[in-house]
Amino acid sequence: MVVLVTGAAGQLGQSIQAIAKNYPEITFFFATSTEIDITNKENITDFFLKVKPDYCINAAAYTAVDKAESEPEKAYSINVTGAQYLAEVCKDFDTVLLHISTDFVFDGNKDTPYTEEDQPNPTGVYGQTKLEGEQVIQQIAEKYYIIRTSWVYSEFGNNFMKTMLRLASERDTLNVVNDQIGTPTYAVDLAKALLQIITSAKENYGIYNFSNEGVCSWFDFAKKIFEVNGVTIELNPIPTSAYPTPAKRPKYSVLDKSKITTVFKIEANSWEKALLTVKI
Ligand SMILES: NC(=O)c1ccc[n+]([C@@H]2O[C@H](COP(=O)([O-])OP(=O)(O)OC[C@H]3O[C@@H](n4cnc5c(N)ncnc54)[C@H](OP(=O)(O)O)[C@@H]3O)[C@@H](O)[C@H]2O)c1
Repeated sequence: MVVLVTGAAGQLGQSIQAIAKNYPEITFFFATSTEIDITNKENITDFFLKVKPDYCINAAAYTAVDKAESEPEKAYSINVTGAQYLAEVCKDFDTVLLHISTDFVFDGNKDTPYTEEDQPNPTGVYGQTKLEGEQVIQQIAEKYYIIRTSWVYSEFGNNFMKTMLRLASERDTLNVVNDQIGTPTYAVDLAKALLQIITSAKENYGIYNFSNEGVCSWFDFAKKIFEVNGVTIELNPIPTSAYPTPAKRPKYSVLDKSKITTVFKIEANSWEKALLTVKI
């Protein structure tokens, strides 16, 4: 079985690479943005002609949530046009596409976990482009999985955990928002879930939610990150209003995981437990 991973240098791409050796039945090809630029259809097609993938995991994306507000064309080109080209090439090659999406497709006005059937209503450019990326894939591809996830972190790339640890090494006190509620996702757990879907060989295509289990605020997450890593710092909870950002974030974005658990028997770790398994 041949699995191609685009965006291989990102945190999800690196997380898949970190566990690839545990799947001897899979021949992996990891393509960074210089090897496959997903906004270049010819580039994608040439790579597919060489490796003929059975599955393509699209870990490539424009992920700069705030910057997207000032460069919407770039975000659109990667998250929508890139998704469209991948879906078209996957269809031509009869390749199953696994595409990653986000809790930011929702406005966060609910107070119970979002299911795959809930109505998206993004509040910013990033979420809007991720939603439109989902929609083009659904229109074009027949064999696709769209996995929505949230608050992704890992030992790889840039993420909240690494920012917190860096800031703690530079400052004595930190303020973190306590009124945005969601669930962290360890990128290696997400990588395992994607490979569990692939190795199941099932054909239950569609949209699925995946994150770790449990609920917390960014403040709770930061507190636990410091506790697990033995960092002492004065940490203060603040409201979102005290930390304005160019992009509005959902207030509540917990994802309901019952569909992925029922269909693929994927059971996620609690977010606290997952944090203990990160190898820094
Ligand atoms: N991070 C989160 O908190 C979060 C939350 C929910 C959902 N997600 C979704 O999860 C997925 C993986 O996120 P991540 O955190 O691993 O992102 P990431 O670390 O930012 O990695 C994204 C990768 O995409 C690559 N890329 C950008 N433009 C490209 C292009 N035109 N062609 C090919 N590759 C390109 C980047 O390449 P360079 O190395 O050249 O920059 C980077 O390596 C994304 O779909 C994201 O939307 C993330």
